[in-house]
Amino acid sequence: MVPFWGFLSAVILSSCVSSWPISDKPIDPPTLGSQLHQLGLKFGWRNFSCSTCKIIFTTLDISLNVDSSQEMVASLVEKACMKLRLAESNVCHQTIQLFKHDVITAWVLSVLRPSEICGLILGKDCGVWDIGSDWNISLPSKPKPPVIPPVPPPPGSPVSRVLFLTDLHWDSEYLPGSPVNCEEPLCCRKPPFQNGLIKDKKKGPFDRVYWTGDIPAHNVWQQTRADQLNALKTITDLFRKYLGTVPVYPAVGNHESTPVNSFPPPSVHGNESSDWLYHEMSQQWQDWLPPSALETLRTGGFYTVQIGPKLRLVSLNMNFCALENFWLLINYTDPAGQLKWLVDILQEAENQGDKVHIIGHIPPGLCLKSWSWNYYRIVNRYESTITGQFFGHTHVDEFEIFYDEETLTRPVSVAFVSPSVTTFINLNPGFRVYQIDGDYPESSHMVLDHEKHILNLTEANTKALEDPQ
Ligand SMILES: *[C@@H]1O[C@H](CO)[C@@H](O)[C@H](O)[C@H]1NC(C)=O
Ligand SMILES: *[C@@H]1O[C@H](CO)[C@@H](O)[C@H](O)[C@H]1NC(C)=O
Ligand SMILES: *[C@@H]1O[C@H](CO)[C@@H](O)[C@H](O)[C@H]1NC(C)=O
Ligand SMILES: *[C@@H]1O[C@H](CO)[C@@H](O)[C@H](O)[C@H]1NC(C)=O
Ligand SMILES: *[C@@H]1O[C@H](CO)[C@@H](O)[C@H](O)[C@H]1NC(C)=O
Ligand SMILES: [Zn+2]
Ligand SMILES: [Zn+2]
Repeated sequence: MVPFWGFLSAVILSSCVSSWPISDKPIDPPTLGSQLHQLGLKFGWRNFSCSTCKIIFTTLDISLNVDSSQEMVASLVEKACMKLRLAESNVCHQTIQLFKHDVITAWVLSVLRPSEICGLILGKDCGVWDIGSDWNISLPSKPKPPVIPPVPPPPGSPVSRVLFLTDLHWDSEYLPGSPVNCEEPLCCRKPPFQNGLIKDKKKGPFDRVYWTGDIPAHNVWQQTRADQLNALKTITDLFRKYLGTVPVYPAVGNHESTPVNSFPPPSVHGNESSDWLYHEMSQQWQDWLPPSALETLRTGGFYTVQIGPKLRLVSLNMNFCALENFWLLINYTDPAGQLKWLVDILQEAENQGDKVHIIGHIPPGLCLKSWSWNYYRIVNRYESTITGQFFGHTHVDEFEIFYDEETLTRPVSVAFVSPSVTTFINLNPGFRVYQIDGDYPESSHMVLDHEKHILNLTEANTKALEDPQ
């Protein structure tokens, strides 16, 4: 049973740690061995026979359905967390209390089929582990239209100004003057104190706003559903207050849920599903989105909306691409059918000569390998339709370039990744305004330029009493 405790603690603790900004290559699904290795735990797998393995995991499968066993497992993981000094003991305790139910449920629904887990541990003679295997989305048979290289718009063409905000991470307990260095992973806070952090100056007017999520702060070890919904409502209200009637198009970040990164696919129903979150989002955002978009938002956290005569927006729920979303243990293959849905939207747009902007939280280069690879193929197939891609999550100023699949030399698309509004960690808060080929019949709707606005913290801190520039 030791492997399971190790695995559970690895999932919980890596969820906690990796919810911080990261930058990396596309990732393979976790393997038990690699997760344990990260924790420095070593076991003599070879001493384990196939039949012993299956008996143990069948027993565990049955006993984990009993609440008292869940408690026992959780308390062992907590001891490991403290013993390995993975976090301050209070943070260990609260993190495990928060994660245990969802992680154990995801586990019971997924890899805890004894032949798969034993296949992973002992090799394919004992069972087949295919949870992380490759999968392919099928593209419509309609041939790709010839590519017309983009040309700059005629002088004097209308330009749309699109405000782009990402990763606000609003901390309701932020307290100016509180300690910068503290024991917890997040400082500058407590005692509870209400303070609206947003002071984004109006650099408008804007035609619309793309807002790619991560609303709550990084105190992921102690967040309740009520905290997350409070952050959602508070920030949505601030958007309405400061932006008035400008339409806002949000995307779901990995911090919106609690436990962080926990986004069950729509096949999970009841209290464990994401209904509590998506239903509130569809309430809060109903002024910005049409009923058809609110409907898919409520079931999967993604949507599409026509935002101009020849322009469509697609907001993806990138939590379905992410290694950190432990619910994908149930099934990694096109979670929620989102990429299949995307292909259908893109084909429809192509048929009608519409252009498409894609927004999302986690940039596609950080996704699980198969998801990323399928997305790359889709971008290649629809390169003439997708004319803008906008992401956040890493908190830093970056971009990702897509090349043609045949030669990998001709750039076909770029995903812009913008800096965060939050200072986490040691960053100047920032946002962007994209200048986009505007609304006129032949518009490419491509990004022409962008402005970047930052608050220089070094400067602000030396002139603490003046209003920041
Ligand atoms: C596990 O196997 C190794 C070598 O195969 C052996 O030296 C060791 O004693 C075994 N451990 C147990 C607990 O059986
Ligand atoms: C997916 O497609 C690639 C290339 O077309 C192929 O090499 C691979 O075997 C396919 N995978 C599956 C699971 O069909
Ligand atoms: C639903 O789940 C949440 C979070 O795990 C929990 O706080 C709440 O009590 C549950 N509600 C019901 C009715 O089980
Ligand atoms: C996983 O989901 C895909 C797509 O929804 C489905 O085709 C496949 O059968 C599922 N696999 C399992 C093991 O349930
Ligand atoms: C911020 O201000 C400091 C002090 O004036 C300056 O040295 C630094 O280069 C500025 N940083 C940026 C990113 O502009
Ligand atoms: Zn973030
Ligand atoms: Zn994020």
